[in-house]
Amino acid sequence: MSDNSNSTTQLADTWQIWKERARIYAERILSLPNDSYEKTLAVAFWLCLVCAILVSFAAVALKPLQLSNKSADMKRNILEVVDLWEEGMDVDEAFKQFEIKVVDLATGEFVDDIDPESYDMRKAAKDPSLSDPLPRERDIAQIKRRPKYATVYFLKEGGKLQAIILPVSGYGLWSTMYGFLALEPDCNTVIGINFYDQGETPGLGGEVVNSDWRALWKGKQVYDESGTPVLRLVKGSVSPDQSGAEYMVDGLAGATLTSNGVSNLIRFWLGEDGYKPFLDKFCGQQ
Ligand SMILES: Cc1cc2nc3c(=O)[nH]c(=O)nc-3n(C[C@H](O)[C@H](O)[C@H](O)COP(=O)(O)O)c2cc1C
Repeated sequence: MSDNSNSTTQLADTWQIWKERARIYAERILSLPNDSYEKTLAVAFWLCLVCAILVSFAAVALKPLQLSNKSADMKRNILEVVDLWEEGMDVDEAFKQFEIKVVDLATGEFVDDIDPESYDMRKAAKDPSLSDPLPRERDIAQIKRRPKYATVYFLKEGGKLQAIILPVSGYGLWSTMYGFLALEPDCNTVIGINFYDQGETPGLGGEVVNSDWRALWKGKQVYDESGTPVLRLVKGSVSPDQSGAEYMVDGLAGATLTSNGVSNLIRFWLGEDGYKPFLDKFCGQQ
């Protein structure tokens, strides 16, 4: 007999021996009284093992679906921020109107050697090779690290730029809020804001996703005449006639701390450490 068939027979014998041992063990355990320690422990152990295998299998098998849902949710959020989203629409098809670019935040230049489709700005913010720690005095939005590169989305219609969509993030009261701010091609007038991931209290800080409140942002101005980002939330309601109303949005009722977080994230991301170098260059060139 060849070495190969010898080892196959040995393997089959070993399998038979272990199968027989497992059967005897199972019979012995099952014949024990239900309140015996050994049976209780054995049942708990095997139950845990089977559940762990099922959960691991589900986690691995569902990962691609989770990633595709996450990406669809992000795209939907971007469509919402520019008022293009409609129930039942083909998100991937609608998203073809957007051009995606990666921007170097320090220089404000486009980066061509990073694939914008696969670059993950949130992941990059945790990677020391792709982000820098922010000193406390500059970390207005309390994000701790700033990614070196940002993904910027350009909405175009017939080749004409309609909107610039910028990812923003910052700490509220309980959570880091992640969202998008859409600006008109003048790099100053707000089209909309939206948050796709936040953990503020529903009905209080969680109202950052309320469409009525989000509608108040349309037409607001980010920068004053000196180019400083001054757009902020103020306590109470903003009257259209009051001086500086174009730089103010109603604060969220009973949620001043989340409101401050939103003001801070605007100040950070539209400032020198955020998109200002890019917006100055981009709008200066147009
Ligand atoms: C259970 C609970 C949840 C809260 N959630 C929030 C929140 O998500 N955002 C927020 O700014 N304030 C929240 N607050 C209220 C803050 O503690 C604080 O009172 C509030 O921000 C002050 O806002 P005001 O000056 O508009 O009342 C919460 C309070 C409680 C008791």
